[in-house]
Amino acid sequence: MFQNSSIRLLPEHLIDQIKAGEVVERPSALVKEILENSLDAKSKHIELTIIDNGLELVALEDDGQGMSFEDLPFAFARHATSKIKDYADLFKLLSYGFRGEALASIASVSRVTCTSAKGDGKGGKIEIQGGQQTAYLPIENARPGTSLYIRDLFYNTPARLNFIKSKSTEKNAIKRIVDSFLLTAKKTTFTIRYDDQDKKIFDRCQSQKDFINRMEKIFFKRKEISTHTSLMYESRREFEGHKLELHLSTMSFAGNSGKNHYLFANDRLFNEKRIHQTIIRSLPNLWGSNTGHYACFLTIPPEKIDVNVHPNKTEVKFSREDIIYAMLKDALKDLDDLAQPMSATNSPRSFEHSSTPHHEAWQKFDQNHSTPMSSTDSTENIISSPKIEVDHLPTGYRWLPNHPHCILDESALIRLCCELKHDSYATSLTPLLINEPIHCKKSDLDLEKLSQIGFDCEWIDKDLLALRAVAAWLRPLPYLTLCNHAIDHIDSSIKNVFKDLKLKTKLSESVFLRSFAQFNFSTLKESKVIVSLDENTLARLFHQ
Ligand SMILES: Nc1ncnc2c1ncn2[C@@H]1O[C@H](COP(=O)(O)OP(=O)(O)OP(=O)(O)O)[C@@H](O)[C@H]1O
Ligand SMILES: [Mg+2]
Repeated sequence: MFQNSSIRLLPEHLIDQIKAGEVVERPSALVKEILENSLDAKSKHIELTIIDNGLELVALEDDGQGMSFEDLPFAFARHATSKIKDYADLFKLLSYGFRGEALASIASVSRVTCTSAKGDGKGGKIEIQGGQQTAYLPIENARPGTSLYIRDLFYNTPARLNFIKSKSTEKNAIKRIVDSFLLTAKKTTFTIRYDDQDKKIFDRCQSQKDFINRMEKIFFKRKEISTHTSLMYESRREFEGHKLELHLSTMSFAGNSGKNHYLFANDRLFNEKRIHQTIIRSLPNLWGSNTGHYACFLTIPPEKIDVNVHPNKTEVKFSREDIIYAMLKDALKDLDDLAQPMSATNSPRSFEHSSTPHHEAWQKFDQNHSTPMSSTDSTENIISSPKIEVDHLPTGYRWLPNHPHCILDESALIRLCCELKHDSYATSLTPLLINEPIHCKKSDLDLEKLSQIGFDCEWIDKDLLALRAVAAWLRPLPYLTLCNHAIDHIDSSIKNVFKDLKLKTKLSESVFLRSFAQFNFSTLKESKVIVSLDENTLARLFHQ
């Protein structure tokens, strides 16, 4: 009956090759798939080598959970996955992968050797060429984890090679994928090598500072890192379970190439033209008519985001776009204000592009005040004192670059900013884009007095205030902390409200730089913002 039919079932291997195009349409997609697998396998260290834009070789080694001898053929079989069991699992995905397609697709269009072992050292080795298994053997006492050698990508589907874009486009696409994992998998150490270049090692980040260093290493050239003191600004916002962490380069430059622009939603890279345009067009003071690098991390409650579950797609839909744009615009405005002196923030803003848009407070400070401590200063004695060896200062203190025996007291710095402004406390209140909740038990709180200081609050519930507007001078400062402090000290005279201010957390880099840039060395020294690290200071810092 079927002999005359011209419709034929395709052989399995041809189906695989066709379908492979959906998963690994280009080398960067392959790199994405295998990095996701290593991260799904909880690897702490991933080593990746890419030769000839992945067409000659992509080699990966990880120290993740590994696979047993029996697992290996399944890993390369279509629709075989360890990551979901039933339909319901699709809606509570905790892994990148779930289709069980990536390795099968990759192996159908390349020559793959995979060695893998579980924690007990037992595992196996499998070789597959163009989808056909050519070797399969067990191994004992192997290093736990997985290694993959993927050679000659698209050797059996040469038509696909025609679709590979220019070498530099491919290289950029691969680098973008690799860098996006470097930016999100902070707890993993990566060793990356392209062609015969030196390996680059990105150690796991143990702190936000490590993460900033990692980001700077990704975004900037070595020379830029060594010659600039502040390369990135950061700002954070949080509202109704939505969080925004925005990092911008202080530098900007013309042209489109070499820019790093990253948007992440719940640690997945996504593309969104409007958010991108909002970022690059809202920084007239900081970037002028050029643009710089940015990385924007959004954390969205799972029920408020529709991640198109097709793993190759990078579009997302947010159900509360209003919150995202409000947070974003607010953070952008704050960061853009960094590019102009704080004294100008109360006057109409000028959008004229300054020829030096990078506001590098430390550097300016060092140039203007590089007569360090006078020779009569007691720090001379401290320098030779072997007793003082302090690596980690308590929260709220930081070293002064080029003034090795001076430290800066962040609480004193913010106190100084407040004192400077107390004459103009409540002038020009600016409404907050997002009202901030403030928990307060003082039912008889004098809201009028609070507003004279610069905080416009309103009761919205028992024990709960909404901070609706703040004085313009407060905008560049940690105004939430200051508002809580002002409520606690509302009984003092207005002038003395911030007298005993003690910040409990470290200042963000942007707030710090902006506050610091307003003062000269002697003012900071006189006001005890900068203190010499002598025995007394040490005792105060560590035994208070
Ligand atoms: N580096 C690795 N370490 C440990 N197991 C791995 C590794 N790579 C793959 N696997 C195993 O092989 C299986 C198949 O991987 P593959 O990438 O093909 O599918 P997946 O990750 O389950 O889904 P997807 O196709 O969406 O990526 C995985 O489910 C996992 O069990
Ligand atoms: Mg996978």
